[in-house]
Amino acid sequence: MQQQQIIIAVDGYASCGKSTLAKDLARNLEYIYLDSGAMYRAVTLYCLRNNIDIMQINEINTALENIQIDFRYNAEIGFSETYLNGENVERLIRSKEVSDRVSEVAVIAEIRVFCVEQQRNIGKNRGLCCDGRDIGTVVFPDAELKIFLTADMDIRAKRRFEELQRKNIEMTYDEIVANLKKRDHIDSTREHSPLRKAADAIEINNSYLSQTEQLKKALSLARKAMVPAKQLD
Ligand code: CDP
Repeated sequence: MQQQQIIIAVDGYASCGKSTLAKDLARNLEYIYLDSGAMYRAVTLYCLRNNIDIMQINEINTALENIQIDFRYNAEIGFSETYLNGENVERLIRSKEVSDRVSEVAVIAEIRVFCVEQQRNIGKNRGLCCDGRDIGTVVFPDAELKIFLTADMDIRAKRRFEELQRKNIEMTYDEIVANLKKRDHIDSTREHSPLRKAADAIEINNSYLSQTEQLKKALSLARKAMVPAKQLD
C-alpha cells in the first residue's frame, strides 16, 4: 500500500523534548524536520543585535524586510542549521540572551505572520515533521498527526541543563528553571496563537519515557495516520 506523506505537528511547553522527538521522527520517515522555534529565535537575535525597539511596529516591519532565515543541511550532524542573512546562527540563537527575550518577540503578530508564512511554504508538499507551540492549532490545523508533549518541570530543566552543557552554553540550573517558567507563562497567555493543545492532539507525557520509547509510540501513531481514512473503513 502506498503510504501517504503527512504532516506531523509536535507542540508543547519549553524543553519537553519536542525537537528530539520531531528530529527522530523525521529521520525515521525521511521527512523534512522544521524547528519553528529557531525562526523566532533568529528574529530575536536580529532585534537584539540591531537594537530594535519591539514596542515600535514600524521598527519591527523594517526589521522583517531585512531578515532572511533559511535552514541548510549539515551532513556532519545529519540535520539542518539555522542561517540568518547568510550567517550560521545555530549556536547563537540558543544563548541565554536570546532565550530570555524570545517569548516577548514571539507575541508580536507581524512576526508570527512572517514566520508562519515560511513554515507553511516549507510544508506545502507535506512529508514534514515540525515542532513548536502553534503548529497543530494555527500553522497546520490540518496536520494528519498532532502530538502534544508534556514532561515534569524538574525533568525538563535537567534535560535542558545537560543539553546546554554539551553545547558549552553557560546557564545555571536555576536560570533555566526561571527561563522555562517565564516562557511557558508568556507562550500560553499571549493573545495571538497561544500555546494550547489542539482538540485532536494526542498527549504524550515523556517524563519517564526513554528517547527510543517515545519514538516508538510516535511512530506507531504516525503509521496509523498515514493510512488514508477511506482505507480504514
Ligand atoms: O526548544 P524550546 O522548547 O525551549 O523552545 P523553542 O522551540 O526553541 O522556541 C523558543 C520560543 O519561540 C518559545 O518559547 C516561544 O516563545 C516561541 N515559539 C512560538 O511562539 N511559536 C512556535 N511555533 C515556536 C516557538
